[in-house]
Amino acid sequence: MANEVKNETKKFVVAVDGPAGTGKSTATKRISKLLGLTHVDTGALYRGIAYLAMEAGFGLEFDESDHAAITKIAQRTKFEFQRIPGKNPSNRLFVNSKDITGFIRTPDMSMMASRVSAIPGVRAALKDLQRSLGVSSPSILEGRDIGTVIFPDADLKFFLTADIDARAKRRLDELEAQGGDIPSYEELREQIKSRDEGDSTRAIAPLRKAEGAIEIDTTTYTLDQVVEIMAEQIKKRIHELGLDQ
Ligand code: DC
Repeated sequence: MANEVKNETKKFVVAVDGPAGTGKSTATKRISKLLGLTHVDTGALYRGIAYLAMEAGFGLEFDESDHAAITKIAQRTKFEFQRIPGKNPSNRLFVNSKDITGFIRTPDMSMMASRVSAIPGVRAALKDLQRSLGVSSPSILEGRDIGTVIFPDADLKFFLTADIDARAKRRLDELEAQGGDIPSYEELREQIKSRDEGDSTRAIAPLRKAEGAIEIDTTTYTLDQVVEIMAEQIKKRIHELGLDQ
């Protein structure tokens, strides 16, 4: 494949940020395969902490007096991503040796992930891990603060947006494909709005466009178009840096 990273002695990091439902996850997964980059879904880490916090008895209504206990959970958690190859390859997440992949994509877990992600101690506990996941091989990381906090030195940054209705519709399609309990469209739209608000207004590492990030409004694009636009920019950058030599 032309423009893949061949010279791995210099690390190559692509940062992709944006709110829920902009196509971030699906697009970055596809691009990672296309260009041979390691895909790191940093939201899954916050979802892992959300899962453990709920398992420990915390609900969505936890308050500041619970921050220390939830931070402790984050500090003690051992994360492991396992890539399962095959016809339908999947990326499974283990926390403390337990495969929680099937439990972390529910609307409740999304809200809990957003809530725990606003705890400064939780963010601090996950920071080094995210950097180490990104520098071990040429990588594409997606989240909310990759270009601003985790890799302000990324080689290329994207910021994806889309209007709220398009995002709610995509999330609904995803949940339908996944099966299980499905909220109504209106409920889901409200949940996404409230999560956006929390993620963008929190005091620490709020969601915002990093300086120099390429902004793509994906509202009217198909997934193929988003992948094509991003992959072209990434290949150009790999070439500019001489990493394809
Ligand atoms: O990308 P996602 O929907 O799986 O993320 C779940 C939540 O985790 C999101 O609402 C906010 C938080 N998050 C974060 O604060 N920083 C990141 N880099 C990734 C996710």
